[in-house]
Amino acid sequence: MLRIFLLFMISLVLSVSLSGQSIPTDFLSADFHKDRREAVRQMLPANTVAVFFANAERNRANDVDYRYHQDPDFYYLTGYKEPNAVLLVFSANQSDAAGIEYNEMLYVQKRDVKAEQWNGKRLGVEGARKELGFQMVFNGDEFSNIPVDFKSFDMVTFFDFKNDFRDKSGTADLFDLIKSFKIKTDYPSDYNPAKNRLYGMIKATAIENSANVAQTLGRYLSRDTSLQEDELLSGFVNAGDDGLRSEIKEKISLKLKVNNLNSNMISQIMSTLRETKTAEELVLLKKAIEISAVGQAEVMKAMHPTMSETEIQGVHEYVYKKYGAEYEGYPSIVGAGNNGCILHYIENNKTEVANDLVLMDLGAEYHGYTADVTRTIPANGKFTIEQKQIYDIVYNAQEAGIKESVVGAPFSAPGKAAFSVVAKGLIRLGIVKSKSEARTYFPHGTSHYLGLDVHDKGTYAPFKANTVITVEPGIYIPEGSDCDKKWWGIAVRIEDDILITEKGSINLSNRAPRTTEAIEAMMKQASPLDDFTLPSLD
Ligand code: GLY
Ligand code: MN
Ligand code: MN
Repeated sequence: MLRIFLLFMISLVLSVSLSGQSIPTDFLSADFHKDRREAVRQMLPANTVAVFFANAERNRANDVDYRYHQDPDFYYLTGYKEPNAVLLVFSANQSDAAGIEYNEMLYVQKRDVKAEQWNGKRLGVEGARKELGFQMVFNGDEFSNIPVDFKSFDMVTFFDFKNDFRDKSGTADLFDLIKSFKIKTDYPSDYNPAKNRLYGMIKATAIENSANVAQTLGRYLSRDTSLQEDELLSGFVNAGDDGLRSEIKEKISLKLKVNNLNSNMISQIMSTLRETKTAEELVLLKKAIEISAVGQAEVMKAMHPTMSETEIQGVHEYVYKKYGAEYEGYPSIVGAGNNGCILHYIENNKTEVANDLVLMDLGAEYHGYTADVTRTIPANGKFTIEQKQIYDIVYNAQEAGIKESVVGAPFSAPGKAAFSVVAKGLIRLGIVKSKSEARTYFPHGTSHYLGLDVHDKGTYAPFKANTVITVEPGIYIPEGSDCDKKWWGIAVRIEDDILITEKGSINLSNRAPRTTEAIEAMMKQASPLDDFTLPSLD
């Protein structure tokens, strides 16, 4: 009797703890994804189908893969986080054999008890219907029999394949899905998206304008030998008269009729949509940024010259995890002294940061959205005179850049303003003699879009409201530079995430102290890690 009671109690505890499993609920809603698919549909030309594939699973070594991460476009349009899936969005309603109308289809991984025991739960067809709100959902192994005639569309638009996936076991992995797609679309073995785009340009050109277009194409061809080798393209560029150009245009039109594939349209559509953020996206993006800014502030409190670069990275990432961020948006950069001069330094293996400046460029990824925040701080809590002089130039450059981050300004405006401040500052300190020389010490751009990707998609047109960009000037003076030794090994980048609105810009990462005074004051504060000690390993 006691045994039965104990078994009953154990099963009760287990079932309560399983059913009471608390998992986050603040993901993008099914309605958000549906709305985004509708936005794609509205932008598609008539009689077009857009096809999106899930990201590949990538092998790390032997039987271990890298942790899976969904393709951001696929996630944006579906919310589906698993591999081996395809989404189709049609420009207009289609009807199946039973006369049922639909304008999108989703193929997902099949439920599989054994696979799920090893590698985690799958949503399956039912889950995709219930949780993601799709009507037409199928198992991936049905994709090879998809009742869609791809040849009947004027355009099949898709992101061309990167060929960095492999055939795994089973018949419905990404490799198999892409294989079926290629068969059904007569995907040419030498398909070249750039060539395809230029063919499209020629087809759309009025013959009286063809000489001008030939000139533009000539510039593209001069940069790409694979395009030069194409007889039709180089024939069009080198043709001496409209008659010959017209003949080639005809041949290209026939070729495009056989092949309705297009990798350009979908790229333009996704860049346009993802450039500006909806209110729902901004909630998640702001959270990712705030978590990262708090991480910077906590590291300022915890920083000590005896810490290693890896340990500092660990403190940031611990803060991210504490707030529920699933990933880092890019490999974390923690570089002390001269290491800070390597722009994307990710070894982070210096065992003691000592009295150096430490450049820390990290971003939490929260439910798909990533931050990108950089702070540069003195490990011992006090900037030297030289460090402060360089820091203040970068700070003023960033202020100038943020001021230019307003609706309607050209995308290049923050960069121009920031560079001008850096160049003047470096000339004033005698580090360079001319503005052009200043690029040696500030060799990167100042801004990029931020969102699902750290370098997010966008059109680079003048700024629109509800766009988030980074403003991130820097000065990097490696050992051995052609200037006074006292500047060697100083590397400073300050990077903030700026929301552009109709009412002005908002610094979303301002919880991380930014002036030298505010940083020094924060570094004096006690850290919860001050008392965190571990046993020695000897
Ligand atoms: N963390 C990469 C960048 O700042 O662009
Ligand atoms: Mn950045
Ligand atoms: Mn960064």
